[in-house]
Order: sequence, then structure tokens, then C-alpha cells
Amino acid sequence: MLLRGIIENLDIEQASSSVFTIADLGCSTGPNTFIAVENIVEGVTQKYKTKSNSNLPEFQVYFNDHTSNDFNTLFANFPSNRGYFGAGVPGSFHGRLFPKSSLNFVHSASALQWLSRAPQELSDLNSCVCNRGRIHYANAPNEVGEAYSNQYAMDMESFLAARAEEIAPGGLMAMIIPGRPDGTLPSQFSLSHLFCLIEYSLIDMVNEVCHHLTP
Ligand SMILES: C[S@@+](CC[C@H](N)C(=O)[O-])C[C@H]1O[C@@H](n2cnc3c(N)ncnc32)[C@H](O)[C@@H]1O
Repeated sequence: MLLRGIIENLDIEQASSSVFTIADLGCSTGPNTFIAVENIVEGVTQKYKTKSNSNLPEFQVYFNDHTSNDFNTLFANFPSNRGYFGAGVPGSFHGRLFPKSSLNFVHSASALQWLSRAPQELSDLNSCVCNRGRIHYANAPNEVGEAYSNQYAMDMESFLAARAEEIAPGGLMAMIIPGRPDGTLPSQFSLSHLFCLIEYSLIDMVNEVCHHLTP
């Protein structure tokens, strides 16, 4: 899909410069990020080869994740035969990370589902929205799902506002975001049973601690 999307949509007249910049947002430590970047470089290379009068640019790839990401492991895993220059960019993708109009391709896979924070409403312990006894909105009252959804909308807005500044004219963005089809219940999210299992384990652990603390 990445290859086809690039070949069909990349406007190399607008992108034309001696350097083509790619950013992978929420890259973790590999190896998926390297596979994605390889596909992007391949797609752009194929596109340039369709225009006989265009010189192939050099590729600069920025690997972004939270400052707590293990960038040393990421750098140690860099493929030795890569056809690009690589650099790490620490920080949250919910804010600005790059200079204006500096990116030709932004990629983010399985990262944008993470919220920047737990919804504020959850911190009111007297409200039904505090989601007591749960760690997720699956099987929770509708208000809890709405609180998560509102936080997600705010986060996506700040993500898109930052990228709107950073992407160069004619640039492209590809995002892979897990989700569920319209009209399905939160409990039908394919991973909700996993969150429930983690939830049960955490509750068991809390109960055990409480049991030991009770005289
Ligand atoms: C499930 S991993 C996906 C890693 C990789 N993209 C892949 O496809 O295998 C999600 C990554 O997103 C990162 N992440 C989550 N929120 C982020 C944020 N606001 N800014 C930067 N990275 C973030 C996490 O630290 C984690 O490394």
C-alpha cells in the first residue's frame, strides 16, 4: 500500500530537491520501522525513475519516539546496507518536532492510538466517569468512552496542526491506526479482551496488597 500510494500520489516536481526527508513518528526500537522506511525509500526511488530527467535525491530519515524510548537499541539495529542517513528525534509527536516545511514524507504506524494523557474527567473520583475498577473504556459507561473519545480528538488535532506546519508542499503522510468499524460497541474492539485480562490481574494484585495491609 505504501509503494502504491507513493507512486500514485507523490508529486516529485514539488518535492524536487537534493534531499528527500522522511520521518517515522512513534518508531520504537525496530525492526518494523526499518521495513516501513525501506518501503518508502523504494517507492520514492521508483517514482523518480519514472522521470528520466530527475536525479535521485539523497534520503534523510528521522526516527521519532518519546525521550524514554531506547534510542541506543534503535541506532544499534540500523540496517548496515541502508540507503539513507538516519537520526533520532526525541519528543512527543503531539507537538512540533521539525522546522517548517521540512518533511517530504511522514509515516506513523500503531502509535497514534496512544493518548497524550488519561482524560481529565477520569481524575474526579466522585464521578461515574472516573472508571473505577477499570483501565480501559471497553465495558465502561458511555460517558467514559466519550471522555476517551474527546481526548483523542484533541490529541489528533494537535498532531495534525503540528504536521501541517512541518510537511513541505507536495509532501505525503501515511498513518496506520488500529480502530473498530463504525457502529460497533467499545467492547467489540478486537483487543478489549486483552485489556480485560490485564485489568483482572491488576485488580488481583491490588486486592492482595490490601489483604496484606489489613490487620
Ligand atoms: C506499538 S509501538 C509501534 C512501533 C512501530 N511504529 C511499529 O510499527 O512497530 C508504539 C510506539 O509509539 C510511541 N509513542 C506513543 N505516543 C507517542 C508520542 N506522543 N510521541 C512519540 N512517540 C509516541 C511509543 O513510545 C511506542 O514506541
